[in-house]
Amino acid sequence: MTQRTLGARQRAYRSCVLTRLPDNSPLILRPIRPEDKGLLVHGLARMSPASRHARFLAPKQRFTLSELRYLTEVDGVDHVAYVALRADAPRELVAVGRMVRHKDEPAAAEIAIAVCDSWQRRGVGALLGDVLATAARDREIRWLTATMNAGNVAAHRLFNHVSTQLHERHDGAVDELRADLAFAA
Ligand SMILES: CC(C)(COP(=O)(O)OP(=O)(O)OC[C@H]1O[C@@H](n2cnc3c(N)ncnc32)[C@H](O)[C@@H]1OP(=O)(O)O)[C@@H](O)C(=O)NCCC(=O)NCCS
Repeated sequence: MTQRTLGARQRAYRSCVLTRLPDNSPLILRPIRPEDKGLLVHGLARMSPASRHARFLAPKQRFTLSELRYLTEVDGVDHVAYVALRADAPRELVAVGRMVRHKDEPAAAEIAIAVCDSWQRRGVGALLGDVLATAARDREIRWLTATMNAGNVAAHRLFNHVSTQLHERHDGAVDELRADLAFAA
């Protein structure tokens, strides 16, 4: 990728859009910013223990400062993250979607999505999956991977929105999914 193309993509990545869910609710979607640390703290506090466990594969009470730095101070190339915010209350987090390029496989990235409980099952996760798949293709990433609890039906179904070519590996209580972005859903 040339420096010019990279610069144009990074500028596009900084933009903020107003979008709508299938039920017509408006939502703000924008890349995460370093000043979003408080947003993540409050967002985590509003998530149920079950949703936190599903996202982090462990009980999660709070973020450390170094975790907050890692989660919000992203480069937009190898680590991309979007926040969805209420259009009528833009300081309220609805969801976060994240993609981190694998160090040992640059054409692949791990994704993770967390939607606040009261917003689940309204299409936010599928929307973020789509946004991350587009961001991945723009960054020459072909494979999206995710690690999830084997019983996480919602996360498994969400991946069907990402690609029609899914490979799944079971590892005890955890499943590893790999979606081929050459096969758009
Ligand atoms: C998984 C998660 C991100 C899905 O987000 P969401 O906004 O609720 O999902 P959507 O409304 O876009 O639905 C996506 C698909 O999942 C299905 N789905 C969502 N919640 C579901 C549930 N509780 N049970 C069964 N299916 C569910 C939807 O029906 C849809 O499938 P379909 O199109 O085949 O009907 C959300 O449930 C979440 O944040 N869970 C906690 C954290 C987590 O598990 N993250 C995943 C780690 S990778």
